[in-house]
Formats: sequence, structure tokens, C-alpha cells
Amino acid sequence: MGLSGISRQNQRVLSGMRPSGRLHLGHYHGVLKNWAKLQHEHECFFCVVDWHVLTTHYENPEIIEQSVWDMVIDWLAAGINPGSATLFIQSKVPEHAELHLLLSMLTPLSWLERVPTYKEQQDKLKDRDLSTYGFLGYPLLQAADILVYKAGAVPVGADQVPHVEMSREIARRFNHTYGKEPGFEEKAEAAIKKLGKKNAKLYNQLRRDYVQEGNEESLAKAQALVEGNASISIGDKERLIGYIEGGGKIILPEPQALLTPVSKMPGLDGNKMSKSYNNTIEMREAPDSVESKIKRMQTDPARVRLSDPGNPDNCPVWQLHEVYSPDDVKQWVRKGCTTAGIGCLECKQPLVDCVVKETGEFREKAREFEENPEMVRAIVAEGSEKARDVAKETMDDVRQVMGLAYR
Ligand code: TRP
Ligand code: SF4
Repeated sequence: MGLSGISRQNQRVLSGMRPSGRLHLGHYHGVLKNWAKLQHEHECFFCVVDWHVLTTHYENPEIIEQSVWDMVIDWLAAGINPGSATLFIQSKVPEHAELHLLLSMLTPLSWLERVPTYKEQQDKLKDRDLSTYGFLGYPLLQAADILVYKAGAVPVGADQVPHVEMSREIARRFNHTYGKEPGFEEKAEAAIKKLGKKNAKLYNQLRRDYVQEGNEESLAKAQALVEGNASISIGDKERLIGYIEGGGKIILPEPQALLTPVSKMPGLDGNKMSKSYNNTIEMREAPDSVESKIKRMQTDPARVRLSDPGNPDNCPVWQLHEVYSPDDVKQWVRKGCTTAGIGCLECKQPLVDCVVKETGEFREKAREFEENPEMVRAIVAEGSEKARDVAKETMDDVRQVMGLAYR
């Protein structure tokens, strides 16, 4: 869709994370650092997706609550700021469930069955019961998470792109099915007049350029023209934007995946840092534990004795230097390693210092919340209420077009 999607949507950002307890440095460098940046650039909603946990772990409800609070504290410790972003819990906004249900009416089973994670996870997590209706609906629930906020951008890793893609398809199908209000063309023409003479002329010209020539730039310009007009209603804006693309009214805008820059955060063994590999350093890891974990790390197997030169490229410690160390330290490592000028413990020391400093900052920020759980509850309660207000507005529109707006 390119430009058109970006300019049409308000670029509200939504992302979600399954509550999995305390987070590790891979979560920080791979996800949270990016969220903390986005919160200053966009309106952001960050959702603790507790229902999603039940789609795979319905037999273990006892794990949920503590995991939620531990994770939220780590979000806060990472600098996610409740003054800039809305932090909330999925199940506190039942509108997600209502939209999930209503979308299920028009979701072909085959769309869900062909989502790659469906078969993959079933093959991978053999010990779990994933032959449920809830698990099949996982991506549809995710679509509801996104669409209920009319989010324009969804920061996710590459593995989640098919889910965002499915959300787009659902939105398109929904708009196609329900977006044709009676008398749409007449209403759109009336809305054009409300733009004022000059802008109406410009709009018509841009629309013609797009419809006849497929000129994407004209589409983007027309969208900007409509968005920027302060004197027409939201309904008219949606009509005018829908009219350019030849469709009807856009009730649920199509979101785009905002691919998170790939994090090179390696675990203690050089593989990607992940709880299931048992190679993590937690964000709130204690200093002595950080130190002993790093000191126990495997190094280049060629360095049996101190006098044996090594090759950083065969050493997981080097990968951590790539993340944490400035150039001069990295040069010192390369030279010292390849000439047997430094020992491995010596090489690890600057990393111990950096990681202890980083985790120390998280620990300090987290302490405030650990000591005051009521504050965390309040942040989430307020965020959930705010999220709910937005979700309710979307559901009013959705119920209306699906014949459920009783008076
Ligand atoms: N499925 C996502 C994951 O496993 C979590 C998720 C749920 C999500 N709902 C979302 C991510 C909405 C982005 C937007 O990582
Ligand atoms: Fe790895 Fe550093 Fe030892 Fe070289 S000196 S093998 S880079 S830990």
C-alpha cells in the first residue's frame, strides 16, 4: 500500500506482549528500547495480552497474575512512561473480546489455518493442547487488539508479520462488507462541498488523478488535504478518504507492521537470548549474578592456555562487546585476543561493568514500583480505562454497521 496507508492512518501505534514474567536483556534491546523511542513519536498503546497466554496455557492460570505485574514493572523500568504511552491489560478491555467475536463471523477458517505460526507452534509445543478453538483464533484475537484502536502501525518482529498481514485482510473484508452505507456517493459528494470551493476543486482533481492514473502521490496528497481539514466531521473525513479509493467508508483502517530493527542481542552462549535456551540475563539481575554469568561464559575453544591466541569471531563474549563496547575497547579486545595479550577474564571485565551498570539502572527504577505495587496497579487501571474509551468508540461504529445498534 506504501504511502497511502501511512498518510491515511493517524499512525496510532499498538503493540502487545504476552506476560511471561520477568523480562531479560533480549526483550529490552529487541523490543522495549524501541517502544520507549516510539512513545515520543506517536500515540502509543502497549497491551499486556493475558488472554493470549490462555490460548496456549489454559491449564496454568496460576502463572498469569504474577507474570503480568513482573512484566509491567520491567516495562516501566525500561522507560515506558505512563505519561507518554497507554499501558493496559487486554482482559480489562472486554471490547477486544467483542470485536474478536464479531470478526469471527466473517473470518474464513482457511485464513486461520494457513497462518504459519498455527502449524509451527503445534509441531513445536507438542506437550501442549493446541487443538483448541482458542488457539486457532490466536491471530484473530490479535487482529481485534489492533483494529479496536484503529492503530496504523504495529511494531513487531518478523515472526509476527503474518499476523499483522491477516489483520489487514480482515479489516479489508470488514470494510468491504460493511463500509457501503446507503447513499454513500451522495454523502461523499455532499462532504466534498463542505471542503470549500478551492479545496473541493483540488480534491476532485487529485481524486481523478488517482482513479484514472493510479497516481499514488495524488492519493497521498488528497488524504493529507482531508486529514488536515479542521471543519468537517470525522464521518465525512472517512467518507472522503474512502471515496478516493473507490471503496466505501473505512470503518477499520488497515494497520501496517512496523518491523522492529533486528536486535543482535546474543545470549550467554552466543545464540539469541531466550528463556527457552536458558542463556539470559534478566533486566533486574543482581550484580553478583551478572558477574558470575559473564565470567562463566564459554570463550573461543582454541584458547586453552593464556598463551594461545584466540579469534573473537569464534567467541560469544565478542558478540556482547559488539553490543556494549565502544570502538577503543573493541580494538583492545581484538588485538589482545589475537596476540594472546589479554586473558579471557580480563576481556570480560568491561562487559561485566557495562551490564552491571545497565541492569543497575533497571533495578533502581524497578525498586520504586516493587516497593509500591499500588502505584503499578493504578498506572494499569488508568491505562486500561483510557484504552477502553477508545475501544468503545470503535465498537459503537462496528455494532452500528453490523445491525446491532439498538435504541
Ligand atoms: N502475538 C504477539 C507475540 O507473540 C503478541 C500480540 C498480541 C501482539 N496482540 C498483539 C503484538 C497486537 C502486536 C499487536 O509477540
Ligand atoms: Fe573471547 Fe575475549 Fe577470550 Fe578472545 S579474549 S576468546 S574475545 S573472551
